[in-house]
Amino acid sequence: MQLIDGKAISDQVKQEIAQEVAAIKAAGGKIPHLAAILVGHDGGSETYVAHKVKACEQVGFNSTLVRFEDTITEAELLQKVDELNNDPDIDGFIVQLPLPKHINEQKVIEAIDYRKDVDGFHPINVGRMSIGLPCFVSATPAGIMELLKRYNIDTKGKHCVVLGRSNIVGKPVANLMMQKTNPGNATVTVCHSYSADLKEQCLKADIIIAALGVPEFLKGEMVKEGAVVIDVGTTRVPSTQTKSGFKLTGDVKFDEVAPKCSYITPVPGGVGPMTIVSLLKNTLLAGKKEIYK
Ligand code: GUN
Repeated sequence: MQLIDGKAISDQVKQEIAQEVAAIKAAGGKIPHLAAILVGHDGGSETYVAHKVKACEQVGFNSTLVRFEDTITEAELLQKVDELNNDPDIDGFIVQLPLPKHINEQKVIEAIDYRKDVDGFHPINVGRMSIGLPCFVSATPAGIMELLKRYNIDTKGKHCVVLGRSNIVGKPVANLMMQKTNPGNATVTVCHSYSADLKEQCLKADIIIAALGVPEFLKGEMVKEGAVVIDVGTTRVPSTQTKSGFKLTGDVKFDEVAPKCSYITPVPGGVGPMTIVSLLKNTLLAGKKEIYK
């Protein structure tokens, strides 16, 4: 069994990005600038956004954090989105999800200029991704593909089971895995809460991508010998053993599953760090106007 070290790969990618930023600086070019909008005080969102801002610093990007209380109206938030759309200094921005219930998330996503949508959530980016056109690919699926690529994991003709059908992970990663690319060219099955034969499907899988958000859902008895397992789960489970009072827990029962795998990602330190570097990569592409002029 080989552990897929997302932390090490993400450090490597950050170094590559930092080198590019240094070269842009040396040539007198514009430093990429990422903005993040954070509404309210959700613990997970606070942590993720803090990591994103810190990662920008590490690679030499400029970053702006825009904070609002969760009493902000949808109209006020849409006005801020509009401002960032029209700010020539901002190359890309994200609105951290989830948003408070009184705000229509989809409406906010669709208000973002797709040319600055470095999260890749806008329907234009989702649509272009699904037919293999240049676009901003959302960060977690892009991070998973980067891990498979950097570990030279063979996906061509393999049976890949994706657990979960979210817009952020399940659907896009299923799409990427079946595209005519490397990694890609897999035979993909998507399982979800209504799948009747989920265990049987998993047992047939060469690659399992678990993105359900159910802690330790995938058990050893559900995985065939030699499978590649990618764990996308990041549920904060209460714990008395940590200072923060919670433990980040994946969708895979690691102790049971790992001994059967050829490769497996840990939680934390697997997919999580890759998500952030994918966002940085998209911001670099946005700054260089490589995808959209
Ligand atoms: N909430 C959970 N994951 C993400 C993400 O990748 N981007 C944003 N904007 N919100 C999230």
